[in-house]
Amino acid sequence: MTAEVRRVVLVGFMGCGKTTVAPLVAGALGWSSIDFDEVIVDRTGKSIADLFEEYGEARFREIEAEVGSELLARDGVVLAPGGGWAVHAGRLEALPTGTASVWLRVAVDEAIRRVTSSGRLRPLLKTESPAETARALLAEREPHYARAQHEVDTTGLSPEDVTRRIVAILRPTHDLNPDS
Ligand code: S3P
Repeated sequence: MTAEVRRVVLVGFMGCGKTTVAPLVAGALGWSSIDFDEVIVDRTGKSIADLFEEYGEARFREIEAEVGSELLARDGVVLAPGGGWAVHAGRLEALPTGTASVWLRVAVDEAIRRVTSSGRLRPLLKTESPAETARALLAEREPHYARAQHEVDTTGLSPEDVTRRIVAILRPTHDLNPDS
């Protein structure tokens, strides 16, 4: 008996490609994609950098958790949370029925390269040594990401290749609904 998947959540470190890959996977499944940070920016009218600076990380995490609970109630969606969302005891274990979780694994050097070339300011990496900070943070977070049901190593892969792998993982093991 296969499980019916009604939504997919992509987890992983900053720069692993969640925001880029989510719409591609959604396109392949005939679903829509939603980026948590975009919803947070729309709702609060503030950039992620401003939210961290004005309200602090703890408040950002509360808003992120609220947005996450709400979006996880939707069907036919590929969700792209920020890299810190899954780093919460029990969060990936408590996903609603019908949710497939996929960890987009990335080598730390590639993540740093992608993050620094993207032009999107990540407040947590505004340190004296962003590369060292990223290394430490990724080491701390990997055990959390590893709790996802599936894993795709994105290192050296194009977003299209990553998408193909995700769809290939999902198709044989899940009845994809709706309209797939
Ligand atoms: C964060 C990742 C960012 C953004 C915020 C915090 C994190 O999203 O939510 O800067 O804690 O890893 P991306 O993973 O899309 O970069």
